[in-house]
Amino acid sequence: MARGANPFITHEKMYNEIKRNYYNYMSRYQQHLFICTNEGKEICCSAKGSAQMAKNLKLRCRQAFGQEVRINRSGCLGSCKNGIVAVLYPEGKYFENLSERDEDMLFAEVAKRMGDK
Ligand code: FES
Repeated sequence: MARGANPFITHEKMYNEIKRNYYNYMSRYQQHLFICTNEGKEICCSAKGSAQMAKNLKLRCRQAFGQEVRINRSGCLGSCKNGIVAVLYPEGKYFENLSERDEDMLFAEVAKRMGDK
């Protein structure tokens, strides 16, 4: 780096490039829901039934929206004690303290946003 150059300009360029690539990638799907199915701890989301929830939602969304919605299992989303945790993109909205009973609510959240398109 040239002497006296502002190092933050380089970081800003990198940030903008990452952001642009992220949005290009995310535009493959209208909605992309990640459900934590992390295993290993007593309080982890999988111990609360998240894997089954992800499986059910994947099937329901595939039938209702085809390839426009993607449901993925994810690793830990960083809020284990508030599990089951899910995050819906592109909005980036987090859902915490979910249980098996919230499957319909999550599906409705996706459907609502698909209806808004
Ligand atoms: S185990 Fe699910 S958020 Fe950490």
